[in-house]
Amino acid sequence: MSDDFADDLLTDHHIVITGGGTGLGRAMALRFADLGAAVTINGRRTEPLEETVADIEERGGTAEGISCNVREADAVDAFFDEAEERQGPVTRLVNNAAANFLAATKYISPNGFDAIVKTNLYGSFYCTQACGRRWLERAEEGVVLSIATTYAETGSAYVVPSAMSKAGIVAMTRSLAAEWGSAGIRLNAVAPGPFPTEGAWDRLMPSADLEEKMRQRIPVRRFGSPEELADLASFLLSDLSGYMNGEVVTVDGGETLAAGGQFNTFTRMSREQVKSMMDALRPESSENEE
Ligand code: HXC
Repeated sequence: MSDDFADDLLTDHHIVITGGGTGLGRAMALRFADLGAAVTINGRRTEPLEETVADIEERGGTAEGISCNVREADAVDAFFDEAEERQGPVTRLVNNAAANFLAATKYISPNGFDAIVKTNLYGSFYCTQACGRRWLERAEEGVVLSIATTYAETGSAYVVPSAMSKAGIVAMTRSLAAEWGSAGIRLNAVAPGPFPTEGAWDRLMPSADLEEKMRQRIPVRRFGSPEELADLASFLLSDLSGYMNGEVVTVDGGETLAAGGQFNTFTRMSREQVKSMMDALRPESSENEE
């Protein structure tokens, strides 16, 4: 039995990935192209776009990079016109572009708040609406996949604008799943836990010590790899997930659940500590015998 998707899983698809030149967006672009899709990636900086396009082409794939700031509605619309002119109708959208920084909320300026919320929430809405309008007008089916985060549900200290905007993305996903489902347009989201990527990780992880503490919180004791996220995204964009609509799939090695269970903290103690603790709690076997 094969342990991989069929090479043609995404053939005949034209997939747009926002923020596709770097990090998780780049990993998804490479994977989708390997699975047969034509991909168009966007971002503010042209250099990463060119590099990723060149890498995809080197592997025999098809890709275009078009610079676009997703915070601007007009630019987003022009981007989709250009993408379709170059590679035909877009069939799938991945809302991946994200802004974020760690900050004590009382120090965040209006500009700082805007930079994050406009990229994450407005950008995802503008792209989703631009795609949805085209699909509805042409009576075409389509799939939107948005990258949320586990703390969209739980909230998180020090990333409040990010948490607020990702929660909005989840609300958009669930709302439009109902509004557009009958037109054959599905919307799903993934909620990743920590996935180290160059750039974003450096900005969000202050020290190696904290990184190790974060790793210890995860039941599988490791971070996710971008390829694992790309595989999940491939499944969610393909017809294999055709009955999933309005879903948010958590991919975090169990981190979020483990943070909530009252006794889960014991799993981070040594075996000896746990054993002596359990022994201390156990009623004496002789006292149990009637
Ligand atoms: C406080 C900050 C700041 C910081 C920027 N600002 N960094 N405020 N703490 N660390 C403020 C600036 O002072 C300015 O406000 C405003 O934000 C805009 O900053 P600019 O540098 O002028 O512009 P811009 O590039 O538009 O925005 C900066 C940025 C963005 C928000 C940092 O470039 C960015 O996010 N880049 C990283 C992209 C990235 O790594 N994305 C992945 C995110 S990972 P003032 O008032 O001074 O003008 C993620 C994890 C979620 O989201 C989980 C999913 C897996």
